[in-house]
Amino acid sequence: MRHDASSPPSDSRAAIRALTYADEAELARRLVAGARLDPAARAAIVAEAAALVVRVRERASPTVMEAFLAEYGLSTDEGVGLMCLAEALLRVPDARTIDELIADKIEPSNWGAHLGRSSSSLVNAATWGLMLTGRVLDDDPGRPAAALRRVLRRMGEPVVRTAVGQAMKLMGRQFVLGETITGAMERARTLEADGYTYSYDMLGEAARTHGDAERYAAAYAAAIAAIATRATGDPRTSPGVSVKLSALHPRYEWSHRDEVMAELTPRALDLARAAARANIGLNIDAEEADRLDLSLDVIEALLADPSLAGWDGFGVVVQAYGRRAGATIDALHDLATRLDRRIMVRLVKGAYWDSEIKAAQERGLPGFPVYTRKPITDVSYIANARKLLDMRDRIYPQFATHNAHTVAAVIAMAGGREGYEFQRLHGMGEHLHQIVREEHGTACRIYAPVGAHRDLLAYLVRRLLENGANSSFVNQIVDKDLAPEAIAADPLAAIEALGDDAANPGIAPPARLFAPRANSAGWNVNEPASATPLIEARAAWRDRRWRAAPMLPCPSEGQPPRPVTNPADPADVVGEVAESTDGEVAAALAAARAAFPGWTATAPAERAAALRRAADLYEANAAELTALVTREAGKTLADAIAELREAVDFLRYYADAAEAAAGEGRG
Ligand code: FAD
Ligand code: 2OP
Repeated sequence: MRHDASSPPSDSRAAIRALTYADEAELARRLVAGARLDPAARAAIVAEAAALVVRVRERASPTVMEAFLAEYGLSTDEGVGLMCLAEALLRVPDARTIDELIADKIEPSNWGAHLGRSSSSLVNAATWGLMLTGRVLDDDPGRPAAALRRVLRRMGEPVVRTAVGQAMKLMGRQFVLGETITGAMERARTLEADGYTYSYDMLGEAARTHGDAERYAAAYAAAIAAIATRATGDPRTSPGVSVKLSALHPRYEWSHRDEVMAELTPRALDLARAAARANIGLNIDAEEADRLDLSLDVIEALLADPSLAGWDGFGVVVQAYGRRAGATIDALHDLATRLDRRIMVRLVKGAYWDSEIKAAQERGLPGFPVYTRKPITDVSYIANARKLLDMRDRIYPQFATHNAHTVAAVIAMAGGREGYEFQRLHGMGEHLHQIVREEHGTACRIYAPVGAHRDLLAYLVRRLLENGANSSFVNQIVDKDLAPEAIAADPLAAIEALGDDAANPGIAPPARLFAPRANSAGWNVNEPASATPLIEARAAWRDRRWRAAPMLPCPSEGQPPRPVTNPADPADVVGEVAESTDGEVAAALAAARAAFPGWTATAPAERAAALRRAADLYEANAAELTALVTREAGKTLADAIAELREAVDFLRYYADAAEAAAGEGRG
């Protein structure tokens, strides 16, 4: 792993990095100001959005999928069980594990509580099925007729397995336009005839091998060739393609920046050139927050390539839930101006929220790269939509959302229907966008995933999370107990009511994940804002030679030291070590035995304090210690950080455990 912290970032990149974990309350204040909406405009947007909710509800009953996710959302144990099942099922290789997984997720839940509650008879039928499955799978021998249930279970499992597998396939079909690009383009014709355009996404992301990456790149190239046959001569009205850079390289990570620039960028450039030749849109999807900085390097390299001059179809996605969204848009506008290009920018809220929160907590980062309250993301979307609308000299804004309030805000701010487009996902937001097109004449593009079942999983899980979260607009609109005005409520008002309490108290900041015990501080090796300070501090230890020798309660016998070299670089002498002799080991053990009664008699609070002090010292000396284990043991930076954090966590954990045990009278 190589980290290049030597070349200083450009001003715009430094501005982006500085916002990675910026204060949420301060950012929220800036966003409210940036939205530039007076009370009358805000009231009109809410009224328009509520009217849209009413019209969407009038027009159609929810799809089976929407009804299903409304009943089994993420706020119920059953919903969480089903999501886990969906997440895991598609990649479980053998029947026995599938059966055990199904039993684990379906058997313990309270399906009866959902019986007859959904407006959809199909969902109610599914509830019956799940309830019966749960009963069949429950073979507690203490219950009557256990033997019968065991027989049923044996007979039933293949049936259950097939049924659950089919259900997952059905869900997939809801969100995927076709298995092949030609099939998908054929299916797209109906809505194209009605004026919609498409952006095709070849399923596949997070390539694990170069083989995967080549397969995905070939799929994108074939898709571009097929889409080119339908080009109109203008990327705005032509179908296009959406590319995930993580599909194009197995190490699309900042810590592998050199390989990415040398190997991924040419692959992406080939695709961009093909799209430019056909004059269709090619859009770079936004993925996890720690891909942002690296994605901007790739984007800058692509856009600067002279072969792409004069093509207006290059697209970038910006995630409004990210604290860096505004600075990223500024940087893209600067870049387009500097290179004399016109680009497309799709604004989304962001599809990786749950995993961003979990990852930051688990890694012990200084904060979250995303907002922690949904109304802040909503207002960030509005403020950044305003920014994009003001940048139409260089940027063609593409507003991707299924939320009626967000759509109404964009329409109000745009003041007309030209110079931008809306976007929706295939299988979502159909009625909302149809109504908006009919009433406002705005353009709408559909993002359409294409591919085989095996590549669907990650995309499907993001859609299930989005539809299943009760904070999501698409989840709320299906729940007719919620008044349109409540669903379309003004997010600016929600933020103003928060004042300085912007950070969500329901989400533990990374440092407080195990509160009251402090989490170990961590670094994300793929996020420059997090990793650079550590990388720079480690530079001081790059040539250091340490001397290790036993700490003895007796005079040393003076074992001659031997040199220690870096296993990854034999020319790098890390230092020297004097090993203990047998006599020294015996003396050390005797001294430890002699000290033990004193240590046992020491108050638990004092012993715990010593452990905590050691933990703090590990953290304070993180640069030296991680440099040492990297050079001595050839550990990567990520492994070195993990080793340090494990030590810190153990020390703090056992300090707490010792005090707790003493409190219970066992100390
Ligand atoms: P809403 O219900 O209004 O918003 C839901 C969103 O709010 C969540 O997805 C999350 O972003 C945010 N949120 C939820 N809870 C919180 C919280 N507690 N704190 C802060 N924020 C919160 N996503 C990508 O990441 N990359 C892409 O490239 C991408 N491309 C897309 C293309 C299209 C055409 C569309 C329609 C969507 C795309 N998405 C992409 C997915 C998009 O991010 C989600 O569909 C979107 O977040 C849903 O927003 P909404 O306005 O429709 O719904
Ligand atoms: C996703 O893959 C649509 O890009 C978005 O979730």
